[in-house]
Amino acid sequence: MDRKISVIGAGFVGATAAQRVAEKQLGDVVLVDIVEGIPQGKALDLTEAAPVEKHDAKITGSNNYEDTAGSDVVIITAGIPRKPGMSRDDLLATNAKIMKSVVTEVAKYSPNAVLIIVSNPLDAMCHVAYEASGFPKQRILGMAGVLDSARFRSFIAMELNVSVENTHAFVLGGHGDTMVPLPRYSTVSGIPITELMPPDRIEALVQRTRNGGAEIVSMLKTGSAFYAPASSATEMAEAVLKDKKKILPCAVLLQGEYGYNDLFIGVPVKLGNKGIEEIIEIKLLPEEKIALDKSAEAVRGLVATLAKLNY
Ligand code: APR
Repeated sequence: MDRKISVIGAGFVGATAAQRVAEKQLGDVVLVDIVEGIPQGKALDLTEAAPVEKHDAKITGSNNYEDTAGSDVVIITAGIPRKPGMSRDDLLATNAKIMKSVVTEVAKYSPNAVLIIVSNPLDAMCHVAYEASGFPKQRILGMAGVLDSARFRSFIAMELNVSVENTHAFVLGGHGDTMVPLPRYSTVSGIPITELMPPDRIEALVQRTRNGGAEIVSMLKTGSAFYAPASSATEMAEAVLKDKKKILPCAVLLQGEYGYNDLFIGVPVKLGNKGIEEIIEIKLLPEEKIALDKSAEAVRGLVATLAKLNY
């Protein structure tokens, strides 16, 4: 195939993303991990599924970044996931080190790639990737808003007993407890959910969305969510590879937009083959802006901690 997608980290999220990318025939896939044998074994298994799934994407496993050379998109999932009782922020020091080393290698071999960051704590990992890559901000995308919106959409569909396809949801802010779901921009077939549900039910769904990752961690006990994160990263990759001009909520570097400077935070952006083609600024109500400020403060705090770490 004429496009190349590398997925770094062949764990739960990475391997599932590789599967989705290959099955959607977005391009050939290179799966990389630090552990020998894991990416090779998973790539071979996925290759053997291809005749049944009816696709011709070439899937290769490797421990060597040379094999990622010339990638159009690189999805980075390397790192450790949460365990019950841990917040995403508890992963900061370990994953910052991993992210820096991974991105340095990725950037060397794929200087024109668009990077999709998945490892947590997401917004802080985007800062690490931005600095380590030296890439323009248009090519560093954090995967959080698509996932958080997908969770909100699932809960809306369950609550109203409607097709998920009719739902649309808007979640801004950092990928953590302070994320900002926006009910008045969340709709079922264009009808705001504020007209379809009482405020207490909306608040319950908002809270469940904020807690969406932890809800799954508490059930799995040994890891965190991976199906929906992999699907979300794949949707972003597809928007870039197919130059779709699709508007998706992504963590991006804001430089003045929404009143924030030098901060990665989730906002709606237009994605095309150059990465971010436009940051879309929507008008926020005063209480929404206050909630977004709180979320931005949480990200800023984490970035300040990051600056003190010797990673
Ligand atoms: N280089 C490459 N791969 C690495 C490195 C490294 N330096 N360090 C760790 N890895 C690999 C691990 O070997 C493992 O295979 O990253 C993979 C992570 O996979 P899992 O432990 O299964 O974790 P996963 O559930 O996929 O989550 C990965 O995504 O959603 C986030 O919070 C989550 O930060 C976590 C990340």
